[in-house]
Amino acid sequence: MIGEKLESMLDGSPVFEPGTVWLVGAGPGDPGYLTVNALRALQQADTILHDALIDDRILELARPEAAKIYSGKRAGEHSIDRDALCARMVDLARSGQRVLRLKGGDPMIFGRGGEEILKLAEAGIPFRIVPGVTAGLAAMAVATIPATQRDVNRAVVLATGHAASDADETDWAALAGLGQPLVLYMALRRLDRIAGELIAGGMGRETPLAVISSATRSDEDILVSTLGTVSEDRKRHPIEPPAVVVIGEIVTMRERLLRIAPAFAGALA
Ligand SMILES: C[S@@+](CC[C@H](N)C(=O)[O-])C[C@H]1O[C@@H](n2cnc3c(N)ncnc32)[C@H](O)[C@@H]1O
Repeated sequence: MIGEKLESMLDGSPVFEPGTVWLVGAGPGDPGYLTVNALRALQQADTILHDALIDDRILELARPEAAKIYSGKRAGEHSIDRDALCARMVDLARSGQRVLRLKGGDPMIFGRGGEEILKLAEAGIPFRIVPGVTAGLAAMAVATIPATQRDVNRAVVLATGHAASDADETDWAALAGLGQPLVLYMALRRLDRIAGELIAGGMGRETPLAVISSATRSDEDILVSTLGTVSEDRKRHPIEPPAVVVIGEIVTMRERLLRIAPAFAGALA
């Protein structure tokens, strides 16, 4: 019933033409966070080049005859050979295939989608971007932390904690000075250093912080702490990547909700 209604509503939606590449966001993990457009793309693609962190159940939604090519980092590699990957997408599209580049979360948020569409454009390959639910927003939702809340924040900063070199380091003091919540991707490994730099930049040690690991997946885990104590708290409560770190007063909403409605504790824990 819903399927038929939806199909009729989607008449006129973009068609996945042969010879094109679609960069599609798969969301944070659980297949329930796929968009309808992502599902439709999966059902039409001839070849799917997918990153790590894509749930097998999502790949099972593809046509059985579709080729699925793992295109993420392999153990021991610092990065994937993006030029080779883009060249492969170009070749596949030129051979008349519908090529689906499937990335975790949203393809344009810390997903290097921009680099890939530049290469496609240079090669004259038509492409389309299908946005996905980004891990930062999904992680806040599962932890019951609003991204914005009137009287608390007027902006929210999505930042990466990854730095390829010292020259590539984020200006943490500048972000500390904004007084707005920070949502950090790829920050777990360097969290002690980042916390130290935010404190040095003027953020209070008592600033609330949440680490949300594997949001929407069966091994989801949440640690609530503060900027000054997260290093110790992680020894007590080890938490694994992939994880998003949320820093700011907005994190207290989770505890406020728990106090108002302790019955939510099961759902929130
Ligand atoms: C290379 S970035 C890709 C982000 C992705 N494009 C997005 O929009 O979510 C990978 C990082 O996303 C975050 N991440 C991805 N999936 C996650 C999940 N299910 N729970 C928590 N963090 C996640 C982690 O910070 C991880 O290190």
